[in-house]
Amino acid sequence: MTGRDPAANHGFVNPPVIHASTVCFESTEVMHSGSAPYHYGRRGTPTTDALTSALTDLEGAAGTVLTPSGLAACSLALLAAVKTGDHILITDSVYQPTRHFSSTVLEPMGIEVEYYDPLIGSDIASLFKDNTTVVFTEAPGSQTFEMQDIPAIAKVAHEKGALVILDNTWGTPLHFKSFEKGVDITIQAGTKYIVGHSDVMLGTVSANEKAWPRLIEVHGAMGYHVGPNDVYLALRGLRTMGVRLAQHQKSALEIAKWLETRPEVERVLYPALESDPGHALWKRDFTGACGLFGVILKDASKAQACALLDSLELFGLGYSWGGFESLALYANPSTSRTATEWNESGALIRLHIGLENVNDLKADLENGLAALAAAK
Ligand SMILES: Cc1ncc(COP(=O)(O)O)c(C=O)c1O
Repeated sequence: MTGRDPAANHGFVNPPVIHASTVCFESTEVMHSGSAPYHYGRRGTPTTDALTSALTDLEGAAGTVLTPSGLAACSLALLAAVKTGDHILITDSVYQPTRHFSSTVLEPMGIEVEYYDPLIGSDIASLFKDNTTVVFTEAPGSQTFEMQDIPAIAKVAHEKGALVILDNTWGTPLHFKSFEKGVDITIQAGTKYIVGHSDVMLGTVSANEKAWPRLIEVHGAMGYHVGPNDVYLALRGLRTMGVRLAQHQKSALEIAKWLETRPEVERVLYPALESDPGHALWKRDFTGACGLFGVILKDASKAQACALLDSLELFGLGYSWGGFESLALYANPSTSRTATEWNESGALIRLHIGLENVNDLKADLENGLAALAAAK
């Protein structure tokens, strides 16, 4: 993973940030031959190439494109893989806006979308139809944290001639090697760990040789472009993603283990924990975990969970994750599921463990648990 060439940039360690729309050509001959390295800002600059080449190396992909958000990466990956008349399979644990995109854009285009149990594994074979072209996966789901058996699903999908797409934002390109596990198109909400500082929205989509030609074609046709400053911040974030993730994982594991011992907690949803039902799959397929996990509070109502959340001072209340700071929210998976049921009686909260001092974070949660008890 490099994405930089100091020798070509007067020795400066980082690539220049090129603000550009127009590219001027030496002659009409060069202009028409397509021999120039760059043609127009929207179709790529040395700055966007620095980030996409670093990600392509890291992912082991045939190529990578950038999108203006993580959600745009999910929608682009799907658009590049489907056509009218197809049937596609999407995990029931999918990030909810991806489901919304499918119902508001794909279904009206004549694509049949069927949701499946995230724990289905190779039994997914029973859901295939003659026109099934895509299986969309997310491992683990970013709210409910079920671990999916990606290699088993990919084996079936490939036998049936379908593509496998993975939203790998939780796994990151460091901890889950998408293409080695049978994925054809892998997505990062770069907004999270790649950027890492909660100051940029960005998505990345990388593909293998089979899926790349159509992905780059649809990306160009859609006119997606990400501004150079945001691309640069993502490239800068990427340089430290490994050390940040190691700390996120260390602190998250310590807090998750501590929460497991608390009487107020029913269950902690974090595949890195030995007690998690997805632990064996995680251990087999992943080389690490990030800082995001769920906590089911014992017999707690939404109002009681919110009393906990509202009392937190160090954890912010926010929808994102992957930044340096800790975040918390209340989640209700039962409102979006259609193929499976979410039957937990206690309220679910989601925590993102940031890079703050772990004892301070525990103290904040301790106060939150006291507020929960007081609300009962
Ligand atoms: C798993 C997952 N995928 C995709 C996204 C979308 O990313 P963005 O917020 O950059 O659109 C998110 C955002 O929370 C996410 O959690």
